[in-house]
Amino acid sequence: MNLNTPTRVEHQLTDKGYVPVYTTAVVEQPWASYSSTDHEVWATLFKRQREVLVGRASDEFLRTQEAMGMSSDRIPKFDDLNRMLRKATGWELVGVEGLLPELTFFDHLANRRFPVTWWIRRPEQLDYLSEPDLFHDLFGHVPLLMNPVFADYMQAYGKGGVKAHGIGPEALVNLTRLYWYTVEFGLIKQDDGLRIYGSGIVSSKGESIHCLESKAPNRIGFDLERIMRTRYRIDTYQKTYFVIDSYEQLMEATTPDFTPLYAKLAQQESIPAGNVLDTDVVFNRGTGEGWLSDGDV
Ligand code: PHE
Ligand code: FE
Repeated sequence: MNLNTPTRVEHQLTDKGYVPVYTTAVVEQPWASYSSTDHEVWATLFKRQREVLVGRASDEFLRTQEAMGMSSDRIPKFDDLNRMLRKATGWELVGVEGLLPELTFFDHLANRRFPVTWWIRRPEQLDYLSEPDLFHDLFGHVPLLMNPVFADYMQAYGKGGVKAHGIGPEALVNLTRLYWYTVEFGLIKQDDGLRIYGSGIVSSKGESIHCLESKAPNRIGFDLERIMRTRYRIDTYQKTYFVIDSYEQLMEATTPDFTPLYAKLAQQESIPAGNVLDTDVVFNRGTGEGWLSDGDV
């Protein structure tokens, strides 16, 4: 996810012909203009993922998603979800055209607003698309905003992002890795085994199965500094997943001021996405099968 990418509005007709227009503004969800194809894409993905995620997603993810009342019937209305969300944790969803500049994104989170891409992928993109759409944002990110601890974590991340932005680009790289390996691709240890809570996983059928069942990737215990040094993949499944014990652990580990940590990390080498260190708590040492040898970001 490249948070620097300006957000695209589809081409607009001007006196210079069709030109792409960029905006980072909040937009109303144009609910009435979703096509029947849009609603069908939602329904297909919703049913498919709910099935795949039984016994794979964290109990809390499945519970909060049900509590929000999302269903396969039709694309949810942000206004309806917002009534639930405001009452539960004070978060609200705002519609956006797509990826936001870093500081805009952090500012939303710091104020308990979660930006949701309003448009949904096309039927030929059910398995993969390279930018977040409504399905990823809404199905993947929004349910856990109903959980008070995770809700606080997301806001703290936003505030931390504003701060890191002021410190410099290296601090932002460290912080983005934390987001990647927790919010997007995190696993959690339940009494009955490892489960998924990361949005990038729960919105992907292939990776939902791969991250838990494949022998290829490493599954390693959460370690804040270690994560902040670790590069990641944006074009393939992750080589390494990090496992938290609880959302409380995540919150507690990330509460201290990161300013001295950024200074320390600036002196250290980054870690390739697939490496295992002697200090790691290893749930699974990946076989590395199918890994590309380059391309970590
Ligand atoms: N404690 C972090 C800081 O001082 C902020 C933060 C909290 C970042 C939670 C990520 C997640 O920058
Ligand atoms: Fe995401």
